Amino acid sequence: MTGGSALRGRVRVTGAKNSALKLMAAALLATGRTTLEEVPDILDVHIMSEVLRRLGCGVTFERYPLEPGDSSPSGGGRVLIDVPEEPSSETDYDLVRRMRASISVLGPLVARLGTAKVALPGGDAIGSRGLDMHVAGLERLGATVVNEHGFLIATAPKLVGTSIWLDFPSVGATENLVMAAVLAEGTTIVDNAAREPEIVDLCRMLTAMGARIQGAGTSTITVEGVDGLEPVAYTTVPDRIVAGTWAIGAVMTRGDLVVEGAVAEHLTVPLEKLVNAGATVEPRADGVRVAMEDRPRAVDVVTLPFPGFPTDLQPMAVALAAVSSGTALITENVFEGRFMFVNELVRLGADVRIDGHHAVVRGRERLSSAPVLATDIRAGAGLVLAGLLTDGVTEVQDVRHVDRGYPAFLEQLRGVGVQITRTQLAD
Ligand code: UD1
Repeated sequence: MTGGSALRGRVRVTGAKNSALKLMAAALLATGRTTLEEVPDILDVHIMSEVLRRLGCGVTFERYPLEPGDSSPSGGGRVLIDVPEEPSSETDYDLVRRMRASISVLGPLVARLGTAKVALPGGDAIGSRGLDMHVAGLERLGATVVNEHGFLIATAPKLVGTSIWLDFPSVGATENLVMAAVLAEGTTIVDNAAREPEIVDLCRMLTAMGARIQGAGTSTITVEGVDGLEPVAYTTVPDRIVAGTWAIGAVMTRGDLVVEGAVAEHLTVPLEKLVNAGATVEPRADGVRVAMEDRPRAVDVVTLPFPGFPTDLQPMAVALAAVSSGTALITENVFEGRFMFVNELVRLGADVRIDGHHAVVRGRERLSSAPVLATDIRAGAGLVLAGLLTDGVTEVQDVRHVDRGYPAFLEQLRGVGVQITRTQLAD
């Protein structure tokens, strides 16, 4: 990619990866056809499709055609999932190890079948990412969970509603426990639950399927178990992390972008940071416009569970700080190890010092192009944004990581003025 161009024009954001994957898992809770709209055409969705196929479901992905007047695709599509009456209860290691989110079939499978055998996940190299809260919660609901030969095996002839306190508002644990509780006997209360928009999205779909859930989007979610659920057609919530990436990119490059589909309320803190950096942020009916004239001012960022600044946008915040005027302190509170990519950013000339979970970033006017390595999805996107501010051609290697989170990213970057090519196809 060649640095130097400002992001200008319109870009359309499709549904959230972190929601779509869980909505696909939730489909397992009902026999018959679930239709999901605005599902991103990314590797993780195809891995989840394969997970579901091996559980006995039929899954097809139909990519949306380019709409008239669109310069680049949104990268979204429709997924049709046909769930049999008796799905299998075992997920293979070869798929699960490629994507941590496969663990979200655990809750629905135990709820539906009374047993689940799910390989322990791999996923991004961004910290230890334990599963203790998933396991402890399922045990509270009456399941027996053992870890054998690389598999988590959960059995529960009957799940019974209970109260569960999460030590940390874990997104994955909240989702798994809610999906288990919807078919449990009686009422389950999940306290210190995660409040992310993707949790609200999942609960909306479950409610449409016939579940009884209250408090989604707050710290206390109450689920009253029902006997059965029906499949539905449902549209995935727009991806706030992709939207936030575009917004930050527009500010870094002093561009002017309309991020179609962006929901301002899902990005309150990041957008406020951009305003503090000097940007114009304009929520509109079709999304959010972000424009920047001058060099951004450095702003401090602290990652926290929603509604705090999302950890998934932290690499972009570091990239922004690397080209802002002044010094910014970026604090990572959610995932240890998420500053690993900073070594790559330093290769582009950024002035960043790490001390534990803090990064001190002294802004520079320009960065300098170099080959860099994407270490995970968001780090890769952060490096692409930094590459826009370099003086030459930056090569981002292992870009397959970025493909996991950003559908049609290259086409969309080209659509808003960036010269970028893929030199080798991702596997
Ligand atoms: C999800 C998102 C990820 C995002 C993260 C936080 C998906 C597919 N991924 O990940 O992009 O960065 O939310 O917004 O939706 N933890 C435990 N024990 C547990 C569960 C979690 O210690 O049982 C820890 C993790 O190690 C981590 C923190 O809690 O430090 C947050 O994890 P969690 O909120 O569960 O994130 P994920 O659901 O894995």
